[in-house]
Amino acid sequence: MIKELRLKNWKSFAKATLYIDPLTILIGTNASGKSNTLDALLFLHRLSSGVGIFQAINGDVNVPALRGGIEWVCLKPHKQFTLEVLTDGAHKNQDLHYKLTIQLNGTKAEVFEEELSVLSHSPKKEKKLFNTQQAESTNPGIPTYFSTGTQGRGKRIDLNRSYAILSQTESMNLRKEVQDGAKQVLSQLKQIFVFDPIPSHMRDYTPFSEKLNNDGSNIAGVLAGLEENRRKNVEATLTHYLKALPERDIKHVWSEPVGKFKTDAMLYCQEGWEETATHEIDARGMSDGTLRYLAIVTALLTREPDSLLVIEEVDNGLHPSRARILIDMLRELGKERGIDVIVTTHNPALLDAAGVGMLPFIIVAHRDDKTGISQLIQLEDIEQLPKLIASGSLGRLNTEGRIESALKQENAR
Ligand SMILES: Nc1ncnc2c1ncn2[C@@H]1O[C@H](COP(=O)(O)OP(=O)(O)OP(=O)(O)O)[C@@H](O)[C@H]1O
Ligand SMILES: [Mg+2]
Repeated sequence: MIKELRLKNWKSFAKATLYIDPLTILIGTNASGKSNTLDALLFLHRLSSGVGIFQAINGDVNVPALRGGIEWVCLKPHKQFTLEVLTDGAHKNQDLHYKLTIQLNGTKAEVFEEELSVLSHSPKKEKKLFNTQQAESTNPGIPTYFSTGTQGRGKRIDLNRSYAILSQTESMNLRKEVQDGAKQVLSQLKQIFVFDPIPSHMRDYTPFSEKLNNDGSNIAGVLAGLEENRRKNVEATLTHYLKALPERDIKHVWSEPVGKFKTDAMLYCQEGWEETATHEIDARGMSDGTLRYLAIVTALLTREPDSLLVIEEVDNGLHPSRARILIDMLRELGKERGIDVIVTTHNPALLDAAGVGMLPFIIVAHRDDKTGISQLIQLEDIEQLPKLIASGSLGRLNTEGRIESALKQENAR
């Protein structure tokens, strides 16, 4: 799993660390840097999938540009940014440390430095698996030294600086330790899923599919494409979690093949009221909140274990009284399926539902008053927090802007 994401000169950040837990909640006022943080995960995911660095930032026919594109990717006025991730290593007392510095040059975005190392905890030591060196300006490639397991710089191979070196290792034949380490980090980055379920995209018939789209548009197709027993289980769990959401009783949620050739599917649910017969509705008639919630549950049930699911404004469209149901669902399913979840929220009800037990996992994005630079602060690290909590619930403190005020006071000291 990815444990930490470090940002340097990335968007509104000079230097910040996001600690990633099974459920991480990112809060902060508008334009504080929440989405900027999550954009870094999306960028790394794209690189790991073999997308070129420039395309990953500025988009092309297959991928939309990151917000702001190349102009807004570095902290103004810098021309370089660094992203680092720490993931689990092969052994319990080891982590893998991946570091990537990108240099912008006109319309180019290229690797400036990249390295992967194994961090052992006891005794503490760092062993490089590969690292790059600056090349002569005439060299179109970037010299990369791969550890040979013995002393010395390692074996030099010049690689393409327009793509992350890490993604290029996939097609190379390397020493097992290096290959395994690179594979491990690559697979963690590939498993990042930035999910933005859009109810209006979910109302149509969709083709059978293996993978959920980023906007949740094909949930019916994904459910219908599951093997029979798995589909029944998933639909039962979906029904279980949806039951508590609306006022009416949800009896059953399922997906069914439609059309002459049965290559498409539609989502249905059966609802009942006390005094009337049950009736069936399809996705076209379902409410926005219902569809968005169903999409999130489906993502948790169908993404591969070890994934990192990122959802902005996770409670969008949900009634505040349902915040606890949502938090419980994210925690339970995340744990059961081995999926880490990062969410952003502006909703006081969600923070109240999370409760003090979640304090260590709530991160506040905050802009420094003087410099405008974003910071990521663990709620738990705010000195005044115990006093604040004694005077009001977390949601209330957030609504009244008292968390930001406390941070301003602490920054001014
Ligand atoms: N390259 C950059 N250099 C400096 N500041 C930047 C850069 N790119 C973005 N910003 C700042 O980041 C802000 C946007 O931050 P972000 O989108 O992360 O906000 P957010 O916390 O997600 O807010 P919301 O809750 O409204 O979605 C912009 O208003 C801008 O001030
Ligand atoms: Mg945002």
